[in-house]
Amino acid sequence: MMAERNRIEVMHGVNLDQLGRRDPAHYGRLGLDELEVRISSAAAELGLQTRFFQTNHEGEFVEHLHRLEGLADGIVLNPGAWTHYSFAIRDALELAALPAVEVHLSDVESREPWRRQSVIAELCIARVVGRGPDGYREALARLQRELSR
Ligand code: DQA
Repeated sequence: MMAERNRIEVMHGVNLDQLGRRDPAHYGRLGLDELEVRISSAAAELGLQTRFFQTNHEGEFVEHLHRLEGLADGIVLNPGAWTHYSFAIRDALELAALPAVEVHLSDVESREPWRRQSVIAELCIARVVGRGPDGYREALARLQRELSR
């Protein structure tokens, strides 16, 4: 029997380690550690295992994507500002070749025009924006459906 596919890599990009200090109107008041506790419990309810990664260095984010082969079945990623322009992360995500869901805490569609552009959206099976921490639960549920097909 094929092993269950339930390993989700949750990747936070640049400046997301500063949650809790960033504008609460956009990002709420949770710190990254608290957000990760919430994500872990949402994942457990869905029967998913999570591993977390955060960096402020684009190359580290790229290399982490390179190393996922055999270690993860799906990806939830919020690359922060890199979302809007990093073709290096876009190419590494394509190489990872795993189902991925893009998440943004804030509603990037109704902020500055440059935040509407996502260079990773076309590689993702879904995109959740402006739902705050609950957006991660939605992303996990979407991946769980995908992985149980
Ligand atoms: C963000 C939105 C980005 O535009 C911004 O640069 C971030 C966080 C979000 O979660 O809403 O750092 O990805």
